[in-house]
Amino acid sequence: MTETVLDRAREVIRRITPRGAVGLVSAVSAGNLVVGGLSQAARLGDRAEILRDSGPLQAEVIRVSGDEVLLLPEGGTDGVGLGDPVRIVPLPVFAPDDDWIGRVIDPDGRPLDGRPLLPGLAVRSLRADPPPAQGRRALGARLATGYAVFDTLLPLVRGQRIGLFAGSGVGKSTLLAGLARGVEADVTVIGLVGERGRELRHFVEDVLGADGLARAVVVAATSDRAPQIRRRAALAATAVAEHFRDRGLNVLLLLDSVTRFAEAHRETSAAAGEASTLRGFPASTGPAIAALCERAGPGGRGQGDITAIYSVLVAGSDMDEPVADMLRGVLDGHVVLDRAIAEGGRFPAVDLLRSVSRSLPAAANAHENQLIAEARGHLGTYERAVTMIRAGLYVGGSDPRIDAAIAVQPALEQFLGQRGERGCEASFIALRQALAGARQGAAAVRPRGAAQTGPAQGASGRTGPGQQGRPTTGQARPGAGGPT
Ligand SMILES: Nc1ncnc2c1ncn2[C@@H]1O[C@H](COP(=O)(O)OP(=O)(O)OP(=O)(O)O)[C@@H](O)[C@H]1O
Ligand SMILES: [Mg+2]
Repeated sequence: MTETVLDRAREVIRRITPRGAVGLVSAVSAGNLVVGGLSQAARLGDRAEILRDSGPLQAEVIRVSGDEVLLLPEGGTDGVGLGDPVRIVPLPVFAPDDDWIGRVIDPDGRPLDGRPLLPGLAVRSLRADPPPAQGRRALGARLATGYAVFDTLLPLVRGQRIGLFAGSGVGKSTLLAGLARGVEADVTVIGLVGERGRELRHFVEDVLGADGLARAVVVAATSDRAPQIRRRAALAATAVAEHFRDRGLNVLLLLDSVTRFAEAHRETSAAAGEASTLRGFPASTGPAIAALCERAGPGGRGQGDITAIYSVLVAGSDMDEPVADMLRGVLDGHVVLDRAIAEGGRFPAVDLLRSVSRSLPAAANAHENQLIAEARGHLGTYERAVTMIRAGLYVGGSDPRIDAAIAVQPALEQFLGQRGERGCEASFIALRQALAGARQGAAAVRPRGAAQTGPAQGASGRTGPGQQGRPTTGQARPGAGGPT
């Protein structure tokens, strides 16, 4: 090491009051820094500060070996030189507080909305353990969501963790914002990972809106932040949710998106030298996702619950895509949004047949479960026959189950897109009414060969895709509307 380097180090050290060991930069690249002299003092995950001439640079310790420490900087490494002094600095105090409701913060607990923010009294770890499995409650009661489909066919219960899987631009963020406003909860915590700055503003101001924000804490790290900060956004949002859960509250945690969390994890791991072996992701990605999601869910004695919804970007609705695959295993349900449905103008674009809530059948009573099975049956029958129907090859009256599915399709489609704060029971009444059309509609179909009185109408009387098949009228079997 040259004398000049040592002199510079001494000078900077004289200017500061070191709280711990000081090391010196021994190698620097655009992506990371190697530091000598800190191996005994540094711990994985510690924060360090590089004292370069142009101003301090924050970094995270991502590898510690016998004689050197690897740092992942939080900004560009421009201006860092060999011999620049480095010190370990205390981790930022992350102490969520009830006053954080209505605020937008970064993963270190600093305000992003330009107003002062005070930390709470109790410091929380960003990597807390979940409550012990044996002390955790079972899934709780059904929650009203503000969406007919989630109030009935795909119920969300207290402490449930579900995934929201969709391609880009199919409505994940809009649906999460709607759920933030509509789901019965004491407080909502929204983690936004890797959105562009403009998107974050649009989400908070226009999509979530003032009423959504009034009962929410938003934890965000935009796409321009370093990968370790983006990864931390998901951990910090979970820690904020844990704060409220430990106060006994019913918390709704929304994370948009786990895909960007996994990508940030991959970037951080790659900088630390971990190879990406698992279809483009390092082997530690699965455990990182599992550890994150395990922290949500039902609480233990004296705690509230964290009901969580994690969005996942799936290319071309490929549910076997690695992040989707890793996540599905740790969840109690998944909701699939479909591009074709969104393009048809129905929002939320839930593909019901490919979506599952594992809170069923317990979340509904026997009659409700029967309605659910009936609706799924009609949708399944319609989907299997849709090619034939659209091609005009289906002759009405040839299959009573298809006749019933065609008859009920417009009303069910309309039901699936319904919003409103009517609650679960009222939504089931609406579902029953929608299904009633199946029997009436199918009964209006006459036997083949009988005189045709005109095209069959759907239950709602509107023309829908079913009309393209022009079912001839015929007598449907009683009970044709039953589950298939
Ligand atoms: N409920 C809705 N009503 C009307 N349009 C909607 C609705 N939800 C989504 N859209 C349309 O879809 C677009 C994309 O929605 P959104 O940003 O929520 O999708 P996303 O899946 O989060 O996208 P990305 O993958 O880019 O994050 C919106 O800009 C809007 O045009
Ligand atoms: Mg989005």
